[in-house]
Amino acid sequence: MRRELTFILLCFAASSVFGKDSSPSFKLNTTSSQFLLDGDPFTYIAGEIHYFRIPHLKWDDRLKRVRALGFNAITVPVPWNFHQLFQDDDPLWSGDHDLVKFIKTANTNGLYTILRVGPYISAEWDNGGLPWWLIRSGKISKFRSSDAAYMTEVTQWFKHLLPKIAPLLRKNAGPVLMIQIEHLYGLLGICDQVYMLDLANLVREHLGNDVVLFTLDAPVVQFMRCGTLPNVLPTIEITPTNVDGTVANWFNLQKAFMQGAPAVASQFIINPYKMWGNNVTDRYVNSVIIQTAKTAFALNASISFHMTHGGTTFGFWNGAVEPYPVTTSYDSFAPISESGDVNELYIDIRGWILSIPGWSYPPTPVPANLPRTAYPTVELTVFDTISGFILGVNPECWATKETPRTAEYIRDGYGYVYYNTSIIECGQLYIPTFSDNAYVFLNQNFVGALYKQFNSIHNNTIDVQGCLDQFNSLEIIVEITGRPHNYYPDMSRGIQGNVYMHNITLENWESCVVPIDTYEVSMVEENYEKLQKHIEENFDLEKSKSAVTTNPSVFIGNLHISGAPADTFLDTRGWGKGVVTINQYNIGRYWASVGPQQTLFVPSEFLHKGTNLIMFYEFEGATTACTTTSCTAKFTNVPIFDY
Ligand SMILES: *[C@@H]1O[C@H](CO)[C@@H](O)[C@H](O)[C@H]1NC(C)=O
Ligand SMILES: *[C@@H]1O[C@H](CO)[C@@H](O)[C@H](O)[C@H]1NC(C)=O
Ligand SMILES: *[C@@H]1O[C@H](CO)[C@@H](O)[C@H](O)[C@H]1NC(C)=O
Ligand SMILES: *[C@@H]1O[C@H](CO)[C@@H](O)[C@H](O)[C@H]1NC(C)=O
Ligand SMILES: *[C@@H]1O[C@H](CO)[C@@H](O)[C@H](O)[C@H]1NC(C)=O
Ligand SMILES: *[C@@H]1O[C@H](CO)[C@@H](O)[C@H](O)[C@H]1NC(C)=O
Repeated sequence: MRRELTFILLCFAASSVFGKDSSPSFKLNTTSSQFLLDGDPFTYIAGEIHYFRIPHLKWDDRLKRVRALGFNAITVPVPWNFHQLFQDDDPLWSGDHDLVKFIKTANTNGLYTILRVGPYISAEWDNGGLPWWLIRSGKISKFRSSDAAYMTEVTQWFKHLLPKIAPLLRKNAGPVLMIQIEHLYGLLGICDQVYMLDLANLVREHLGNDVVLFTLDAPVVQFMRCGTLPNVLPTIEITPTNVDGTVANWFNLQKAFMQGAPAVASQFIINPYKMWGNNVTDRYVNSVIIQTAKTAFALNASISFHMTHGGTTFGFWNGAVEPYPVTTSYDSFAPISESGDVNELYIDIRGWILSIPGWSYPPTPVPANLPRTAYPTVELTVFDTISGFILGVNPECWATKETPRTAEYIRDGYGYVYYNTSIIECGQLYIPTFSDNAYVFLNQNFVGALYKQFNSIHNNTIDVQGCLDQFNSLEIIVEITGRPHNYYPDMSRGIQGNVYMHNITLENWESCVVPIDTYEVSMVEENYEKLQKHIEENFDLEKSKSAVTTNPSVFIGNLHISGAPADTFLDTRGWGKGVVTINQYNIGRYWASVGPQQTLFVPSEFLHKGTNLIMFYEFEGATTACTTTSCTAKFTNVPIFDY
């Protein structure tokens, strides 16, 4: 103990002798346009990676692969909505939510962390990371602005988040170097500089005035003007280009917004992500990606490859660029694939870094790809119709006289909302405003689907025929397909306003929470127990021999695994549209009929030795996956996409 103390004192003495303080710190030197890490000039080559898209037991594996590229840092956004499911809840910080553990695991692997605290992060994530319950409050007039009600909520959230980050800062000998506030704020166009300053001040209050803060904008003058702040490092987003001088021009523009700023591309978009119903046509060529990185690096720029490992958007967490929801796979053609494989782009990036003379963080050996298995085909049979299933597990409902309630009002943040009422007469049903897809049933029989917006389709009326003499049950299940991530919340989900039949307002609605959870990656345990009990009491898989249904239905089957489970892909070809759960995990949405994604990644952590329960919640009708007696769930060891 005493010896250590003496050593520290000597260090202090030494640093004062040489005029350099080498104690842990992260700073800007605006004279030399450099970052200083512990007093020494520092450049980073970082990889963006999302802990919330990787099961936590795989964090170490993925981070090793990032480090093996020769990167020395990671860029990590924090999705507020993933941590704080309900307004009155304390945020979740364990298991898949253990941000601190993720940062420490990265550090153990030799990676510093650059943190994006938003609170708006985009990230192709529901609502860009903002919780649905902000919409519910109804008090916020403008999101991502200095609106007092919005800032009150942000202040509360930062009180939870930032004290966890403070001990991890470099000045406290931790791995967190700098903090990004907001994200592409200039693009939003509202230019609320008071808001940006409020955010900066909030972060400084918790992390100190000496913490390096930065903003990120596209290198366009009007965006940089709106999105940057004095004394906050402006950084830019860049894309692969082979046009001479472009990269230098971008950095010149960036540096024009702060005297002595180091060149920083904190978002180097290397490839597009995928959306349902919208094939990717604008991938970049690997050689152009590498050339752009080389050019930036030669200009002394620090860069962050976006994405370095995309992972999977399990549950209902995907965002959307209307009208297209983001796919469940967030592979994004990244150098580390969705299932963790390294690919050609990985080899090319690593090869470039190996060739950098004097780079202090040379690539480490590449871990072998993890084993994957194509499990034998599983047979599934009908358990119940979707609405029968929903009512069977006693959902929480709100009864109202006229207008049905929105998803947010009934505290159903994600997935689906169930509505019912009874009608006396059939006719033209008109739902003026709903979001996003509505499935309509008469007396438990499927009538048809309405789409708020899909491709060029917008339909909101449907002919409902076949009413019985007296009471008829009208049911509507509305899917929340993912809130847009590319601006800010504009409206709530579910049915918004009256529903009409023959121009007559339908009354006496029940609006119910659909118990297919997105909470954590897994479901809330007590819900899962309730579900298992419901299945046990109402279903005998051995005796069920039917797959005949004209209704959206729940299909059940068992996957038997004899040894230790391995990663796999579930092949959804031949199914329609819906969501799959395996055991207590929601492995995400599928939409095989429109693509481009055809397989769902199933990490080994979601499986166990013995019997694994697979459930398909199929809304639009399976096609070739079913015969009259059963449907099949196939597995593959490679992902399948049609582009
Ligand atoms: C900042 O850079 C200038 C110019 O290279 C150099 O003279 C100065 O010592 C640097 N400051 C620190 C704290 O390293
Ligand atoms: C990059 O850094 C080196 C070493 O500090 C310096 O000599 C060179 O001028 C810098 N280049 C640019 C484009 O800033
Ligand atoms: C609404 O549009 C969707 C998408 O094309 C279609 O599948 C559906 O049948 C339409 N619904 C009605 C009632 O026409
Ligand atoms: C509507 O749902 C509620 C709640 O589960 C149920 O009690 C009621 O019977 C349903 N009504 C109709 C008309 O389907
Ligand atoms: C509903 O009302 C509108 C406007 O009054 C009228 O044009 C339309 O024909 C009515 N539709 C039905 C089904 O009665
Ligand atoms: C996407 O590509 C596949 C395979 O070429 C094709 O079948 C499908 O129609 C395309 N989808 C769209 C929306 O263009």
